[in-house]
Amino acid sequence: MNVFLIGSGGREHALAWKIAASPMLTHLYAAPGNPGIAEEAECVALDVAHHDAVIAFCREKAVDLVVVGPEAPLVAGLADALAAAGIAVFGPSAAAARLEGSKGFTKDLCARYGIPTAPYRRFGNAAEAKAYIEATGAPVVVKADGLAAGKGVTVAMSVDDALAAVDACFEGAFGGAGAEVVVEEFLEGEEASFFCLCDGKTALPFGTAQDHKRVGGGDTGPNTGGMGAYSPAPVMTSAVIQRVMREIVEPTMRGMAEMGAPFSGVLYVGLMLTADGPKLIEYNVRFGDPECQVLMPILESDILVLMQAAVDGQLRHMAAKWRDETALTVVMASKGYPGRTAPGSVIGSLEKARETGAAIFQAGTALRDGQLIANGGRALNVTAIGATVAEAQEKAYRAVDLIDWPEGFCRRDIGWRAVARERSL
Ligand code: AMP
Ligand code: GLY
Repeated sequence: MNVFLIGSGGREHALAWKIAASPMLTHLYAAPGNPGIAEEAECVALDVAHHDAVIAFCREKAVDLVVVGPEAPLVAGLADALAAAGIAVFGPSAAAARLEGSKGFTKDLCARYGIPTAPYRRFGNAAEAKAYIEATGAPVVVKADGLAAGKGVTVAMSVDDALAAVDACFEGAFGGAGAEVVVEEFLEGEEASFFCLCDGKTALPFGTAQDHKRVGGGDTGPNTGGMGAYSPAPVMTSAVIQRVMREIVEPTMRGMAEMGAPFSGVLYVGLMLTADGPKLIEYNVRFGDPECQVLMPILESDILVLMQAAVDGQLRHMAAKWRDETALTVVMASKGYPGRTAPGSVIGSLEKARETGAAIFQAGTALRDGQLIANGGRALNVTAIGATVAEAQEKAYRAVDLIDWPEGFCRRDIGWRAVARERSL
């Protein structure tokens, strides 16, 4: 099989690494890729916003399957364009990608199908949103409706912060994504992520993870794209998974099919485990980053077999097999992230770090005169596997400490919740 992977982050490096291990693979292309992905795939400079150029490339190279990593091309309809051209694609249509592309759409779906989520209201102007917030009080959560690169959500502990968030949305802080806002109740509990592979009809459970969104140790400081993750998440017991499948995922699959937008690809279910049971925080329509970097190393099954089954509508016949171990990844980012960072610092000694057995997935990196340099906020995902979370954590940090990158930093406590839970057993 010739496979074409779209994307350039740590998530796509992990996917490339796993796809490259498949006996079904003939040739792997990636666009735009990065220096890590280039170790697994032939990277091509192709603007994936130009659907015609992607289609022409697939025809020229006899591509059998396109795998789309990030959400933006999906929301922009890349999967629809490929499907219309008769090219197989793993990833949802634009209509199905509304599960991530519009928070209001997802909330309305939840309301219609009785899916547990925070009570909410949608607003198209600031005055009504503010009046509602004044009436309900804080804490409260304000969300830009559309894609905002993970920055459109404000968990407001005071009414003033919530009002400011409403103004920011309608004043264009998130561009078109903020033309509508969702205001919803603040949920209390522990967050966890759950993944399913979907083929329009069937959702196949595909692992659990916990991310660390705050930049600083002890979950302090501003939100980021994710500073580290581990999988599986011990809080996601099989009883919780069954309940999430029954109360959240299955009604969603049914609802999407009923409205003529069956969901295929990866459904990322962001959950709050509350005292009243699991509630949906949000959907994403792709793997998480860095969650994918901990799913791929413990997946025993052939990812291409599963992706092909998703494309062919055959997931009801499939099961995913996992190693009975924990994977943990530590994100290393340029100092200053999630704010402004200086590109160009040299990253050294990756080989030495790899000798520990860790896998190092690259995100914001580039090559300059044959040397690896940082090129963006999050640069590396240092990933290790262990029999326990504590062991995976210790191995990951052993590799981190061998990397020579004075301009980089990481959190030192990735996995703390699960390690504490292990210790208390
Ligand atoms: P999102 O960008 O939708 O992933 O939201 C970012 C983060 O905001 C989530 O990971 C949660 O930590 C938090 N969040 C979103 N909605 C709620 C809610 N209703 N209650 C509490 N926290 C929330
Ligand atoms: N790590 C969170 C996300 O990928 O959305």
